Amino acid sequence: MAQSTTNPLIEIVDLTKVYKMGEMEVHALRGVSLSIQPGEYVAIVGTSGSGKSTLMNMIGLLDQPTGGIYRVRGTESQKLGKKALADLRNREIGFVFQRFNLLARATAMRQVELPLFYAGVSNRKSRQMATDALTRVGLGERTHHRPEELSGGQQQRVAIARAIVNQPSLLLADEPTGALDTHTGEEILTLFEELHSQGLTLIVVTHDPDVAARAHRVVTMRDGLIVEDRVQVPSKAAPAPAFPAPAVPAPQPEADSVTQPSAQPATQPRVILETLDGAAA
Ligand SMILES: Nc1ncnc2c1ncn2[C@@H]1O[C@H](COP(=O)(O)OP(=O)(O)OP(=O)(O)O)[C@@H](O)[C@H]1O
Ligand SMILES: [Mg+2]
Repeated sequence: MAQSTTNPLIEIVDLTKVYKMGEMEVHALRGVSLSIQPGEYVAIVGTSGSGKSTLMNMIGLLDQPTGGIYRVRGTESQKLGKKALADLRNREIGFVFQRFNLLARATAMRQVELPLFYAGVSNRKSRQMATDALTRVGLGERTHHRPEELSGGQQQRVAIARAIVNQPSLLLADEPTGALDTHTGEEILTLFEELHSQGLTLIVVTHDPDVAARAHRVVTMRDGLIVEDRVQVPSKAAPAPAFPAPAVPAPQPEADSVTQPSAQPATQPRVILETLDGAAA
């Protein structure tokens, strides 16, 4: 597993999850170990039912593992009570889902303010923070629109603004482009790249190889286990062609990926992270 000189943001050791369904037991995670440094951009891939969402639920502190250890910034999650767990989740982690999970009748501003309300932030401050988050995702002009008045991509941006409004360290996204067309999905991935370059740690579950190609590290799951963990040079968004594409496409430089047993992020944006740490503290 990854050896590190910095403290990992998340550290998972031999994690298991067994779902009990009457007499039957489903072993969704069968001993997963994973260490993620601040500032990494990780894709989790694998066949349907391999345990990706289960792992994300554990990482996001939405569910308790059956066995093993999970530490967030060195704090062992299993040793925390409900309240401390919720505080840790609110402080450190934001979520984005495939189906946006927005409230049907609330404006973009309300959706983004909601987590701040639960965190006890004053109205005035939350209005400012929500405005900032919506501006960050390019929706500064759409703050009073309801979901039905927004495109799919804009709805996902609202969901991302809601996820980052608390300035978490970690953004978890489970199939964030699954409900979007290719072009809109690209826009969301470009936004992820911006957020990553600003210091956010990203973990994205995806079935789409093009989405996984944008990450710096790809973790592959099968049958509740990690079967591959590799660092890669991420591919960048293709710029819109100024002229019609040539009949024979020019050769593209290969995003040469390197498989290595102890996966490390390609870069460690330390300086930005320290800023983020300060903001999140
Ligand atoms: N709440 C639950 N109760 C019982 N079994 C569950 C529950 N959630 C997941 N499972 C089972 O655990 C296994 C892993 O499921 P999980 O949702 O993590 O897979 P996944 O990799 O996210 O799949 P997909 O790509 O289809 O989303 C599956 O066999 C699934 O049926
Ligand atoms: Mg899933």
